[in-house]
Amino acid sequence: MTEASVLHDTKTAYDAVAPLYAETFSNVLETLPMERAMLAAFAELVRAHDAGPVADVGCGPGHVTAYLHGLGLTAFGVDLSSEMVALARQAHPGLRFDEGSMTALDLADGVLGGILAFYSVIHTPPRLLPAVFAEFHRVLAPGGHLMLGFFAGDDPVPQEFDHKVTLAYRWSPDGLLDLVRQAGFAEVSRMLREPYENERQFKQAQLLVRKPPQP
Ligand SMILES: C[S@@+](CC[C@H](N)C(=O)[O-])C[C@H]1O[C@@H](n2cnc3c(N)ncnc32)[C@H](O)[C@@H]1O
Repeated sequence: MTEASVLHDTKTAYDAVAPLYAETFSNVLETLPMERAMLAAFAELVRAHDAGPVADVGCGPGHVTAYLHGLGLTAFGVDLSSEMVALARQAHPGLRFDEGSMTALDLADGVLGGILAFYSVIHTPPRLLPAVFAEFHRVLAPGGHLMLGFFAGDDPVPQEFDHKVTLAYRWSPDGLLDLVRQAGFAEVSRMLREPYENERQFKQAQLLVRKPPQP
């Protein structure tokens, strides 16, 4: 599959489920204490470094973007799905949401203080991810933070799984870390937890990394 066909299929799949997705997940953070803790740490680090706004890349209906805003960040969302972007704008009229792809962000070099990709890089085929992480590195300011949320596995090789919306991949935290390291990031912290009873039986992870500050 080419990059263009992957993006087309992902966009089409999320456009089709956008209202149901928003209804199902817009309050999900209330049930995720560990993820809230990582988001709070991410926000505190980004605020302390004060290097620019935060992009919530693959923001879906915008609930996590709004959560970051509530944590005192200047946050905006970007998503491939125009339907998701429309729902995000409707639910959070005070916030900015742009249509776009993480593979080619419409942002100048070094303008962001942080990037959150919360369960959105899961849909990028592994061979295309190095270019995505290079793009994240390009748009982040030196010292900027990147947080990745994803379904985790123990296998060192990424595993395709039958995600309900469209093709997706599970990563071992070390496997994904290797890729982000190759793009120039350094690990800050990680969270790995067991699935809850109402979740599918995959561990879930948050990986927090940083673009090194300028010497
Ligand atoms: C599982 S949803 C996660 C949405 C939201 N972050 C959340 O946690 O509920 C994945 C989202 O990533 C978006 N996405 C997937 N690939 C993308 C890409 N290349 N660029 C931008 N958004 C993308 C999809 O359109 C979808 O809204």
